[in-house]
Amino acid sequence: MLVYRKELNSIPDYVPGKSIDEIRLLHKTGVSYKIGPLRKRSLRKTGPLRKTKPLPIIKLASNENPFGASPMAATAYKKCVDKLHLYPRMSAPELVKRLALKWKVKEENLIIGNGSDEILDLAARAYLNKSDYAVGANSTFSLYRATAKIAGAKYKTSPLENFYYPLESLLGFKDAKIIFICNPNNPTGTYFSNRKILDFLKRVPKETLVVLDMAYREFTDEAEPPLHKWIKQFPNLLCTRTFSKLYGLAGLRVGYGIASEQIIKALKKIKPPFNSNYPAQMAAMAALDDVRFVEKSLKTNSDERKKLTQNLQSFGFEVLPSGANFVCVKIGKEAKEFVTWLESKGIIIRHLGSFDMPEWVRITIGTPKQNKDLLKTIKVYNFS
Ligand SMILES: Cc1ncc(COP(=O)(O)O)c(C=O)c1O
Repeated sequence: MLVYRKELNSIPDYVPGKSIDEIRLLHKTGVSYKIGPLRKRSLRKTGPLRKTKPLPIIKLASNENPFGASPMAATAYKKCVDKLHLYPRMSAPELVKRLALKWKVKEENLIIGNGSDEILDLAARAYLNKSDYAVGANSTFSLYRATAKIAGAKYKTSPLENFYYPLESLLGFKDAKIIFICNPNNPTGTYFSNRKILDFLKRVPKETLVVLDMAYREFTDEAEPPLHKWIKQFPNLLCTRTFSKLYGLAGLRVGYGIASEQIIKALKKIKPPFNSNYPAQMAAMAALDDVRFVEKSLKTNSDERKKLTQNLQSFGFEVLPSGANFVCVKIGKEAKEFVTWLESKGIIIRHLGSFDMPEWVRITIGTPKQNKDLLKTIKVYNFS
């Protein structure tokens, strides 16, 4: 029998937020409802002539942009249709150039990934030997553990400290090869200031790679850190960013890493040659220029996050302070049933059992209307 590597047995399956189609199927929710005039009175009961249209489902489970994709990105994407038969350029030079300008770094300090997921995976495979271990928080993005295990290494964790990423405890793992930091942390939304991260970086041994995952960084209230200075000062720092959240391009899969030339060189050695596709690269470039969309997304997120937090608190729930496009809410023992009940009403949020927080849920900040509908629905739930 063909046998795969035994380390793979210890990798838990990735648990994504549920999809709209999945919920329609599972709960038979919004499969169809009747619209349009009925032609004959007699047909009203069976309604064979009625048109059907799926009921809207509100998906607040995967931290996507509730406004959809950046319109400028969508236009740029559509323009690529006559290039689909061509391989993309291997290093996505145009996007790299644009990002180098944005971050004031050299093009050699950048690598484009098929989502930032891929950069995390490249880092683990480039740096972890079988005898090494990586570290991260107990309740955080699951891919850190998975990538370390896939690379054949071990993964050790520290529990969150008062729901914050456990920076201090992670420094205690003196010979960790990689420290994964999620700032803001998924799923808590808690984050550290630039000053605090800088102090942390100064204390990490030079032989340890710090992977600083900044997937939600734009949603914080703090200015961006000077990454060009950080990567010069810390040749062992790899920052990862994504177009999936703020720019609304999760389906296109574009993310990137910013680091010293030596790290980027190592990652490029194992990067699949054509990992990021041409339409995605063009859409990402356009998204960076879509100032109106970015401003609208950030302003709505910030206003709605505040409102949603206050409303949920007024219902008696504990809500963690969030610098992301989601909030983390303590529901209690019935959190899982609550999530299933909301799904049956056409609203998808995320139960945090797989994050080792079984009494908590994570709710993506939606549009003002979606958030209002969510609150209205929660109000009628019968908490025991
Ligand atoms: C903390 C964190 N990092 C990275 C990612 C991966 O993002 P992507 O691969 O879409 O860039 C996610 C996705 O949800 C995330 O929550």
